[in-house]
Amino acid sequence: MPDTLSILDNRTGKKYEIPIENDTIRAADLRQIKVSDDDFGMLSYDPALMNTASVKSHITYIDGDKGILEYRGYPIEQLAENSSSYSEIAYLLIVGQLPNQLQLEAWRADIQRHTFIHENIKKLTEGFRYDAHPMGTFISTIAALTTFYPEAKDIFNAETRMKQIHRLIGKATTIAAFTYCHSLGRPFVYPAGDLSYTGNFLNMMFKVGESRYDVDPVFERALTVLFILHADHEQNCSTNVMRSIGSSHVDPYSAVAGAAAALWGPLHGGANEAVIHMLEEIGSVTNVPSIINDVKAGKRKLMGFGHRVYKNYDPRAKVIKKLADQVFAVTGRNRKLDIALELERIALEDEYFIKRKLYPNVDFYSGLIYEAMGFRMNFFPVLFAIPRIAGWLAHWQEHILDQEQKITRPRQVYLGLRGQTWQPIGKR
Ligand code: SDX
Repeated sequence: MPDTLSILDNRTGKKYEIPIENDTIRAADLRQIKVSDDDFGMLSYDPALMNTASVKSHITYIDGDKGILEYRGYPIEQLAENSSSYSEIAYLLIVGQLPNQLQLEAWRADIQRHTFIHENIKKLTEGFRYDAHPMGTFISTIAALTTFYPEAKDIFNAETRMKQIHRLIGKATTIAAFTYCHSLGRPFVYPAGDLSYTGNFLNMMFKVGESRYDVDPVFERALTVLFILHADHEQNCSTNVMRSIGSSHVDPYSAVAGAAAALWGPLHGGANEAVIHMLEEIGSVTNVPSIINDVKAGKRKLMGFGHRVYKNYDPRAKVIKKLADQVFAVTGRNRKLDIALELERIALEDEYFIKRKLYPNVDFYSGLIYEAMGFRMNFFPVLFAIPRIAGWLAHWQEHILDQEQKITRPRQVYLGLRGQTWQPIGKR
């Protein structure tokens, strides 16, 4: 049987053979379907792109029904278990293979070199109110980097492109830490070259004064695993934005700022903060049944539950749930974990959630760990954005080098008025 779709247009009786490739048809092949010759031709209509592949990618694979997630073909469970550093996974996503020892050392050195930021950026950070939401400061400061590195516009120069990639991955942690210190009125702590990516970040965040901040190895490992788990997730909302902004050939700083803005939404990366607010509102395990009833009555969503792709347990949530136990062994058990576990237990047995295939996602348990490690709730979306920069950049690079891609410019179904005639204001 041929790899084609036969379409019969009952309006005209015409028949069309549409080629099938990778189990998809090209939407452009629908344009030949017309009623009259001067028709524009048929479009596919897909709000929120629920069933549309807009790119071909080699970076991350997800099977939502089976709960599978792989970066460049490696199962996320293996990477979280075996990788010693987030930098190693950033290399895997961006370069396309795991680095050998020499490649990893060079990569780490390049990123570490770029953890320092221009002193003017400190002044920019100090220009925000102390109580500015850190995600707003983070997005603004990432965008401002484009004014310090105008050569970043030369996106088709591989060496220049890689230098901006090193800068963004390196500076993201420093910008985040400086934002946090500014909100507390604390002096900024400069990057330390002898620490790991996450160890350096924790040091910049929590070192106070001259006293040496001893990075807790359990926290450092937990944050490394969390950063690995958050590094990429194929065509999620913010990555789609990164690709779309990048398709205009703007510099990567502007594109990352836009992607981070999309991530901030409570339906996306802002959910980790919303989960903790929800658990605090619930307050006790005894209140869980009433919350579940409100959700089933459509009065609210269960934050940290559900996913556009996963119709099974998010594999990342499984790893994070295990990680929580390790962190709480150091910090003491967080009573919100008991509420979260009870929410999960009831939801996974309830027909409303089963029917809609709603399971805990990456955001359901991550906030509990961040809070136990001493991060403020409003900082959680920043903790999602930092590691996701590697994923955004991997997709950005793949997109601008993809010969099939052009500037993103979808069509629309216009249902508005036509042929209106101007009326002077006195006659309206
Ligand atoms: C991330 O895309 C990615 O990969 C994102 C991400 C990544 O790594 O980049 O994985 C990170 O964003 C994780 C998701 C974090 N967001 C939340 O936890 C917010 C709560 N979740 C929902 O808002 C929702 O589940 C979404 C936004 C995540 C997915 O929504 P969809 O795919 O648009 O699903 P839907 O809204 O069409 O829901 C289908 C049904 C609806 O019920 P009915 O109208 O059919 O009766 O399920 C219900 C929804 O009301 N539903 C929920 C629910 N999520 C969906 N009901 C209660 N609580 C929820 N959380």
